[in-house]
Amino acid sequence: MADFAKLSIEGQTYTLPIIEGTAGQKAIDIRNLLKETGYITLDSGYMNTGSCISNITYLDGAKGILDYRGYAIEDLADNCFFIEVAYLILNGELPNFDQLEQFKRDMRRFALIHEDMIHFFDHFPPNASPMSILSTMVGTLHNFYPEMDEEDDPYGGLTVATARLLSKIRTIAAFSYKKSIGHPLVYPNAKLNYVQNFLNMMFDRPNIPYIIKPEVASALNKLLILHADHEQNCSTSTVRLVGSAGGNLYASISAGVNALWGPLHGGANQAVVEMLELIYADDRDFDKYIRKAKDKNDPFRLSGFGHRVYKTFDPRAKIIKEACDHVLRALEVEDPLLDIARELEERVSNDDYFISRNLYPNVDFYSGIIYRAIGIPTNMFTVMFALGRIPGWIAQWNEMKQDQDQKIGRPRQVYTGYTRRKFIPMHQRA
Ligand code: SDX
Repeated sequence: MADFAKLSIEGQTYTLPIIEGTAGQKAIDIRNLLKETGYITLDSGYMNTGSCISNITYLDGAKGILDYRGYAIEDLADNCFFIEVAYLILNGELPNFDQLEQFKRDMRRFALIHEDMIHFFDHFPPNASPMSILSTMVGTLHNFYPEMDEEDDPYGGLTVATARLLSKIRTIAAFSYKKSIGHPLVYPNAKLNYVQNFLNMMFDRPNIPYIIKPEVASALNKLLILHADHEQNCSTSTVRLVGSAGGNLYASISAGVNALWGPLHGGANQAVVEMLELIYADDRDFDKYIRKAKDKNDPFRLSGFGHRVYKTFDPRAKIIKEACDHVLRALEVEDPLLDIARELEERVSNDDYFISRNLYPNVDFYSGIIYRAIGIPTNMFTVMFALGRIPGWIAQWNEMKQDQDQKIGRPRQVYTGYTRRKFIPMHQRA
């Protein structure tokens, strides 16, 4: 394989190094292109552009492969606790028994939020979006826990901040739900593990104790693992960009929450269920919505289908689809939306428009069905995505901070506006 590329511009030839990743990915290194040629590149949406070198997550869009630190997502989803996978993504290795026990102790130690933060919930409007509440509360964690600025922190600033964020975001999500339905807050219970604690804080009530079903805890554990990282997606790139300016961890993650909120990104899991409800309410008129999705003049797209990287089935969607059956059976839930989802997938998989564009179900297509079955409200589905993605965001942020070559992220542009022109004083303007 050549280890450089030749670029010929106006009769001059430039040599650009080629970088090869450990899985065989090849990249043309253009880090000196402007300095050497006076040219920039243009790549809106960064469809062809790598923003960094990373050791955390590997995707193969053609083969539907997703690995965290070299481990297949299927193995991790079937055999690990979410906290175990979070440790792997954050530290690069699966934890041994003692390391995992220490991490669990950290989760218990940092599960509470400052009591003053609870008053924030009283001042959001009743219909406030849980994602806007989440990004606000995450950003304000820096005011209550500025340890990233404490050099002499015996524990090490990032270690504490990571454990705090991973544990507290779960409490923030559950507290915001309880506040939204006017129920008393349920505080973290040290006897429960990460997922059980979340379920208990969400659904336990003084008058009706919540029974944590193993199938529910297992399904949620799997969903959090499947969302834990996904290389340089929109929200992770946002976290890296804010961090590259020197933004603190909480500010960077808060920005990531806002990027994830978009319906083209993490907001798709909520949009999928709203779309399925629309089809169900519209007398299951699949043809109408498939026609709309194909119509270039119609902004409607099939939420939960397509992906920038996967040009085959998203490996996460496969696992979630199987888990759907298991959870609904265990909970004896009949959800007509699951039948709608299956029929829509079937029709799309036989339609040349979607086949020719490699549009398959992605991670968001079936996840909402499970969240619904568990009792999580639709407007909290993307919050669930954020809960899963926290370890990935932190790990990617930290990898960026550790990169000696890292500079502040600042893309260039091709300017097509007015060239310099003479100023017109007010009295001469038309
Ligand atoms: C996530 O990047 C990640 O890793 C993200 C994520 C993660 O874990 O972080 O995997 C999570 O965000 C998953 C994606 C969730 N979003 C959705 O489900 C929204 C619906 N999907 C689309 O909006 C779209 O597929 C994207 C945004 C996911 C990808 O868009 P791209 O890569 O920019 O592709 P495109 O919009 O250029 O589409 C290519 C063609 C177009 O048609 P043509 O112009 O070639 O004729 O496919 C069509 C699009 O119109 N198309 C769709 C479609 N998605 C793409 N047509 C109908 N329905 C769709 N869903």
